[in-house]
Order: sequence, then structure tokens, then C-alpha cells
Amino acid sequence: MIRYFTAGESHGKALVGIIEGLPAGVEISAEYINHQLRRRQQGYGRGGRMKIETDSVEILSGVRFGKTIGSPIAIIVENRDWRNWTDKMAIEGSGIGIEKITVPRPGHADYAGVKKYGFDDIRNVIDRSSARETAMRVACCTFARKLLEDCGIFIGSHVLSIGPVFIKDRKKIDRLIIGCNENAFLISKKADYSDVRMLDRSVEAKAITAIKKSKKTGDTLGGIFEVIISGLPVGLGSYVHYDRKLDGMLAQALMSIQAIKGVEIGEGFANAAKYGSDVHDEFMMKNRKIIRRTNRAGGLEGSMTNGELIVLHAAMKPIATLVKPLRAVDLKTKKIVQSRYERSDVCAVPAASIIGESVIAPVLANALLEKFGGDSLKELLIRFKA
Ligand SMILES: Cc1cc2nc3c(=O)[nH]c(=O)nc-3n(C[C@H](O)[C@H](O)[C@H](O)COP(=O)(O)O)c2cc1C
Repeated sequence: MIRYFTAGESHGKALVGIIEGLPAGVEISAEYINHQLRRRQQGYGRGGRMKIETDSVEILSGVRFGKTIGSPIAIIVENRDWRNWTDKMAIEGSGIGIEKITVPRPGHADYAGVKKYGFDDIRNVIDRSSARETAMRVACCTFARKLLEDCGIFIGSHVLSIGPVFIKDRKKIDRLIIGCNENAFLISKKADYSDVRMLDRSVEAKAITAIKKSKKTGDTLGGIFEVIISGLPVGLGSYVHYDRKLDGMLAQALMSIQAIKGVEIGEGFANAAKYGSDVHDEFMMKNRKIIRRTNRAGGLEGSMTNGELIVLHAAMKPIATLVKPLRAVDLKTKKIVQSRYERSDVCAVPAASIIGESVIAPVLANALLEKFGGDSLKELLIRFKA
């Protein structure tokens, strides 16, 4: 089974990752991973940090002559911004003379984090809870994504809403998805051409205007993105035990992304308000194949893949760091003060959609390996195709 770990602070020297359990023989390169890292850095509404960082991975072990060799893979992504933080984020020394942060920002890990660990400086919490960590998650998960792609399984995403601006014409999106032969890679590629990763260009302009407006007023926005997976066989996952249920594991992976506060499978929330006869996807035959008339279940029934596209939605709250400050309490003086502003994004939904694509890759790869097994890609492919 594939597992991965990340380490590294937002303004520390580097982000580090270890991926364990990836079969041998998967072709991979730093450039392939960097492509995903670049996608994570895009999107209208990002802050100044993305101008400083051009994320680039170095593979340190587990890959030989361009292919995985089955041993643990170690990777590193340097933080270019670290050069400006060598004093504040020094590994050694006493920290004397370095200003301590004592005002927790609402909507962040700051308050619960200092209480949990007994810190007197919120910087310790800020630097690890930051979504900078997701750069390493994307890098780690790209190995599993490549394994899936080698098996013809593709993950894509696009943005459905930014703040109050929603794509209302779902049929238009569905037509586009069908036009891409329901191939998640092609759908995602189309979204990549948009600054906010929206497939409906008439809505894109409104979303950009909304971000501009919120920036002007010192405010921030969230939104909803959709993740699509194509090429999955029927029967991955399991209905027999709670911790093997694929829907639960996919939701956990998406929920683990900073600022994601809601996850939906298929039309989960809308379905709750309808009659069963308007919800469940009827069977039909097409070219001697069993398919569904609709896909309101989002490709998962009984916590297993049912052969349709998997469709997942994730809701991101508005960015918590505001130029227009909220009220906070200084933990040292106990006085009411304005919360701190630290260079920040105005909207990061497009970036979050790429992270969403990434974090579900190991979940799906593990479901595939659970069913078909294999120490090498060759072995897995023989069993999968059979
Ligand atoms: C791609 C991405 C970028 C983010 N950028 C920022 C940011 O610039 N400023 C900020 O306050 N929060 C940002 N966040 C959200 C915070 O990391 C997150 O809200 C915070 O760590 C608290 O965690 P929680 O929202 O999961 O409770 C970002 C999240 C993601 C996924």
C-alpha cells in the first residue's frame, strides 16, 4: 500500500517527502512532477508568495534511470523564500531577539495550535499549518497519479464557483465533459486554460471581477471545485467494513486539504431534497454494455466504484487572512486587538482544485493495488487487463 509523509515549515529551508509502497517500473521525472507543482501555483487571486516560489522537485532516492525501483522515494522542494527567514526560522540558537507572535488569526490553526503545544510564539503553528505544505503533498501524490495514468485512470478537476459566482448551466458543463469523451485528463486540460479553472467562459469573467472586488475591499473568497476520475473499473473499494469504504477515504483525503469544509459525492446535497425516483441511476444497455442513464451517485455505490465517472465536490472557505482585519485577543496582554495580516492569497480555489486532484491519487492507487496487487507496474498491468 502506498503511504507518504511530508515535513517542512512554510518559511523553512525546504519541504521534504517520502513515498513508500509504490510498485517498481513506474516511469517518472522531476519535470513531470514540476508540471503538477506549476499547476498548483496558478490561478487568479494568489498572493505575493507564488511570485517568489517557482516550485521545483529534486528526487533523491527510489528512482533509477527514470523508473521507480520499489524502494522508498525521497524528494525535496526548496523554499526560495527561506533566504528572507534564516533568522526567524533558524534551526539552532536561542531565538532571543526574535519577535514572538502572540495574536491568533481567526480562521487559522493559530489559537488551538499554541494551546495544544503550549507555545508562546504562534509562528511555530503558522509555519506548519500553512497550505505551503500542499506543494509537497502534490509532489508526493504525483507518483500515485502517474501509476494510475499508466493504467488508463485519469484525474481532473475544474472550478464550479468562486464566492457568489456560480456556474448555473450544468448541462453546458456536462456537454463539455461528454465532448472530452468523459476523459478527466482532457477536461482538466480545458480548465487549465482558464485563470480560475472554470469551464464556462461567460462565468469566468464574473469570477475574476468578484476576486478583484474582494481584493479592493481587503476581503477574500472561497468556492467549490469538482474532481472527476475516469477509467476506473467496477468494484474498487469495499462495502464490507467501514475503514475500507472508498467514498469515506476519498472524502477524508479532500477534507484534509487546508480550508476545505465540505465534501460531496455526486449530487449528494441536492439529492437529499428529492424523491428517490428522481435520484437513483437507472441501468440500461448500450452496445452490449451495462451503463446508467444518469450519474447522480457520482460513480460510487456501496462505497465501491460502479464504472461511471467518479464526481466529487469540495467546498473551500474564504481565505482567513484579511487585509480588512477581524478582531482578536493578544494572548500576552489579553487586550482586544486587530488580527495580524501576513502576505496572503485573496482566493485559492483554482489551486485547491489541483491539490484535490492530487490527494485522491494515493487513495485510488491503493484501491487498485488492493484489488489487483503487484510489486511492479508490469505485474499490475497484466492482472488489471486480465
Ligand atoms: C492552496 C491554498 C492556499 C491557501 N492560501 C492561504 C493564504 O494565502 N492565506 C490564508 O490565510 N489561508 C490560506 N489557505 C487556507 C489556510 O491554510 C487554512 O484556512 C488554515 O490553515 C486553517 O485551516 P482550516 O481552514 O483547514 O481550518 C490556503 C489554502 C489552500 C488550500
